[in-house]
Amino acid sequence: MPQTLTIKTAPLPPASTGTLVIYVGEGQAPAGGAEAIWNGTGLDWARHMAATGFSGKQGQALDIVAPEGIEADRLLILGAGKLPADGGLATAWADRGGSLANKLAGIKAENAAVLLDGDTATPERIAELAAGLKLRHYRFDRYKTPKKDEADKPDSLTVTLHVAEPAATDEAIADRMAVADGTILARELVHEPPNVLGTLEFADRAAALSELGVEIEQLDEPAMRALGMGSLLAVAQGSARPPRLVVMRWNGGKADAAPIAFVGKGVVFDSGGISLKPGAGMEDMKGDMGGAAAVTGLMHALAARKAPVNAVGIIGLVENMPSSTAMRPGDILTAMNGTTIEVVNTDAEGRLVLADALWFAQERFKPSALINLATLTGAIIVALGNDHAGLYSNNDGLAANLTAAGLATGEKLWRMPMGPAYAKLIESRFADIKNSGGRQAGSITAAQFLARFVGDVPWAHLDIAGVGLNSPHSETSGSWASGFGVALLDRLVRDHYEA
Ligand code: BES
Ligand code: MN
Ligand code: ZN
Repeated sequence: MPQTLTIKTAPLPPASTGTLVIYVGEGQAPAGGAEAIWNGTGLDWARHMAATGFSGKQGQALDIVAPEGIEADRLLILGAGKLPADGGLATAWADRGGSLANKLAGIKAENAAVLLDGDTATPERIAELAAGLKLRHYRFDRYKTPKKDEADKPDSLTVTLHVAEPAATDEAIADRMAVADGTILARELVHEPPNVLGTLEFADRAAALSELGVEIEQLDEPAMRALGMGSLLAVAQGSARPPRLVVMRWNGGKADAAPIAFVGKGVVFDSGGISLKPGAGMEDMKGDMGGAAAVTGLMHALAARKAPVNAVGIIGLVENMPSSTAMRPGDILTAMNGTTIEVVNTDAEGRLVLADALWFAQERFKPSALINLATLTGAIIVALGNDHAGLYSNNDGLAANLTAAGLATGEKLWRMPMGPAYAKLIESRFADIKNSGGRQAGSITAAQFLARFVGDVPWAHLDIAGVGLNSPHSETSGSWASGFGVALLDRLVRDHYEA
């Protein structure tokens, strides 16, 4: 069972508790309220630093029995890293919350009081810390039977943040938690095993956003057939599970304002189809709906914080399976926009799904901008590893805004090139284009393929294959799925698309 986490605020100074937490900057001594607490211990700071090697670096911790005079069982001193006078980056505050969650889990704390005083500890930054705490606390263990000694223990953690302005901080935390919850929803969807989360189950999870005021529309196979979505439907035809296109609309902006549109690849399992993948690691392909998960998490975030924006999220849900009804290499498909596609590799299925979803998004909603996310290629992992997602765009302004949002949230992007020389690689002998350009520039040719289904609208494609799943742990994520994209796109919307 996941441990339940309660985060609340209270005024300064911190009151009696199980664990009292103070932060100390790198190379510094405890300051402000922390100095008073430390002085109360009667211990020598320099001697403690020398004996333990604690230097205040981000991620470091010093855990001591609370000395006489402190109303707590233990005193946990956390490294806050660099503490610039201007407050520093939002991500640094999230990291502080993340390491807090990690240390509290390590000592199995049930109650903690955290001292957050000082000029730089604004409500917004404390909200970042709270979000980092929540994100790092998250784990996916629904399918693990609790060990005997865990089963009957109370499993809850309450963290009280002692701050100068509790009311304003509560408000900032509520706003930021809407986004953290969206990230966690995305992680949850990516983690769920493919036997549990099929196309219809995913569609149901997305439809549940109607509770937050999101308008839901679902297109089934006949509806997509009527629209001519021969590309998306070809991927779905090999699976016993029917496809769905789910449209999520959040209308928080002016009635006549064009929406921003987000499109996600939702391949609930990618076996490769007839061009079957090798067995090793194939289980990871339960996460091939990471783009759709991010779009769903983003719609949750926007609705939960009542963002003043019109946004539409569109996810193409299919399963890519080998069977007697599956598409074959050599098949020629006709997409909704009339483009004919020669299938040369059934494992290049994500672009087939996005082709129709992207065209549909533009035709139907005339968006002001169009952004898609997809675990699209192994090639982007070769190029950028796990630290940056690949960014492709037909618009320098949008690309710059996305890059900046990536730096602000820690969900980093790196822009990749496009151009006619790459477009040439997907020319087909028998159809307008083919669905794979072969080994060279594999992530770029996938982007060139998508560009065939995008008109004049400012568009960006994020290839998140390297960052959405199998993520290395960070201060704010201890889980296999990162939920990449939710915080990033929420930031983009806040900074550039809100009324
Ligand atoms: N879903 C995969 C890409 C992927 C790989 C995502 C690893 C996450 C982790 C995609 O559908 C795929 O199979 N791409 C092929 C394309 C190739 C056949 C042109 C690839 O990248 O190998
Ligand atoms: Mn594939
Ligand atoms: Zn795939």
